[in-house]
Amino acid sequence: MTSIDKIGIPRRRLLLKRMVQGLFGLGALAAMVPFVRVLVPSRSQVLEVSIEKLAVDETIYVEWLGRRVLVRRNAVVPIATDARFPLKDSESLQSIQPDNVVKAHRAIREDVFVAYAHCTHLGCEVRPDSEGFFCPCHQSRFDRAGRVLKDAIAPANLSVPHYRFVSHKTLQLYRPS
Ligand code: FES
Repeated sequence: MTSIDKIGIPRRRLLLKRMVQGLFGLGALAAMVPFVRVLVPSRSQVLEVSIEKLAVDETIYVEWLGRRVLVRRNAVVPIATDARFPLKDSESLQSIQPDNVVKAHRAIREDVFVAYAHCTHLGCEVRPDSEGFFCPCHQSRFDRAGRVLKDAIAPANLSVPHYRFVSHKTLQLYRPS
């Protein structure tokens, strides 16, 4: 006689029932994981960036959700369309930016510009220059608000990620819910 035989049929049924209930419980928990993740945002869904030491015309790059984001300190001067350099999308109507940025300078604050560092043509990383940004791959140029010049091959302005200021010296990149 095996040890299972010793347990007896009623006890075996009970054991089997408990095992099935346990498996259902685990399945239910596994199904809840995505919802729990949404309710409790992980630390990786926000990134705080200190701009305390960022000098005027200085640009820093940070990694954010597998992409590079640039943060540039601009002098506080109005950013307007320069007639010498016509823009493709001066009002940023065809370009990607969150609702909380001011369309005229595509930023929350006039002195801080934040954008994905990838050129909207083929994704090369743009570099800062005195006028704004340029792409080393096919020479597309962007102004200080990341707006692409009309004669550039890049189709749109630099994309702006979701961000907010948590203090005067710190901004926070976040993934919208
Ligand atoms: S990738 Fe920037 S212009 Fe082509």
